[in-house]
Amino acid sequence: MHHKLLIASLALSGFASLAAPSQTAAETLEERGAYLVEGPAGCGNCHSPIDDTGNPVLGQNLAGRFVIEMPEFTAYAPNITPAGAVGTWSDAELARAIREGLRPDGSLIGPPMPFSMYRGLSDTDLSAIVAYLRTLPPVENTVPLSDYKIPLPPAYGPPVDTVADIPRGVTVDYGAYLAGPVAHCLECHTPFGPTGPMLDTDLGRGGLIIEGPWGISIASNITSHADGLAEYSDGEIADMVTKAQRPDGSPMLPPMPYPYLARMTEDDLAALILYLRTIPPLPDVD
Ligand code: HEC
Ligand code: HEC
Repeated sequence: MHHKLLIASLALSGFASLAAPSQTAAETLEERGAYLVEGPAGCGNCHSPIDDTGNPVLGQNLAGRFVIEMPEFTAYAPNITPAGAVGTWSDAELARAIREGLRPDGSLIGPPMPFSMYRGLSDTDLSAIVAYLRTLPPVENTVPLSDYKIPLPPAYGPPVDTVADIPRGVTVDYGAYLAGPVAHCLECHTPFGPTGPMLDTDLGRGGLIIEGPWGISIASNITSHADGLAEYSDGEIADMVTKAQRPDGSPMLPPMPYPYLARMTEDDLAALILYLRTIPPLPDVD
C-alpha cells in the first residue's frame, strides 16, 4: 500500500555544499552538533524557511516553516532557534523532545518528524545537537501550530534512558547508524504500514509517494536487489545521494535532503554506502 504525503516545499538545491573536513579528536560537542544538524541529519530540510526557489532564507536558519499537508494533518516545523519555545526548555527537556517526541508539558510532537529513527540517537550525539542548537542566533519567527486530524499515540515507545555511541569509522555498523538514527534514510525509503515504516519486513524497499510543488516523487528501492542499488557503483550512489544526479544525468526530485547530505565527510559517505550494500535484497513494491 502506498502512503501518500503531500509536501508543499522542501529545499531542492539548498546552499552550496561546504567542503567537509574530516572530524578530529579535538572536535567539541558544538562542532559535532553543527556537523550533524547542518549535515547528515538535515534538520533544516524541515525547520528552515525557504524562498520560492527552494533555497534556505539567509539569516533564518532553523527558524521554522510549513512542511506538509496531508489528508490526516497539516504540519509546521517550529522555530528551534533560541527565540522559539525551545529557548525556555532545559537541555534535558530539549533532548527528550528530539529523541522521544515529548515536550516538557507532556504533549507529543507529531509527524513527520522521524521519531522511529531519532529514538536511536546516541547520548553523545543528542547532547551535541542540543549544544549546537543553543549556539544558533535567535531568530524571531512564528509559524502556526500543526493541525492533526488523527489522534497521536500517547508516546512513541517507552522512555529512552541511554543509547551508547556506535564507534565512528568506515564500518557497516556506523553506516547503519547514519542511515537510521542520524539521516533517517530508512524512514523515507521503507514503505509505511499502520504503525510507521515497516522496518522488519520491507526495509529499504521504497515506494513511498511524496507529492509537492515539484510533482510526485516516489522513494526508490535502496536494498541490494537489482531493482535497488545492485547495479550502481559506489561512485554512482555517492553522486545520487550528494549531488541529486543519476548516472544517466537525469536530476532527482525533492524532498531528499541532498544539500545537507553533500556535507557528509568522505568517511561517513563511505560507511553509509558500505551499509546500503548489506540491506537484504527486495524487489520493488508493485
Ligand atoms: C521531516 C521533517 C522534520 C525533520 C527532518 C526534523 N523535524 Fe523537528 N519537527 C518537525 C515538525 C513537523 C515538528 C512539529 C510537529 C508538531 O507540531 O507536533 C517538529 C518539532 C520539533 C521540535 C519541537 C519544537 C516545539 O517548539 O514544539 C524540536 C525541538 C525539533 N523538531 C527538533 C528537530 C531537530 C533537532 C531535528 C534534526 C535532528 C529535526 N527536528 C528534524 C519536522 C521535522
Ligand atoms: C525525505 C525523504 C528522503 C530521505 C530522508 C532520503 N531519501 Fe533517498 N530518495 C527519496 C526520494 C523521494 C527519491 C526518489 C527521487 C526521484 O526519483 O527523483 C530518493 C532517491 C534515492 C536514491 C536514488 C536511487 C535510484 O535508484 O534512483 C538513493 C540512492 C537514495 N535516495 C538514497 C538515500 C540515502 C542513502 C539517504 C540517507 C542518507 C536518503 N536517500 C534519504 C526520499 C528520501
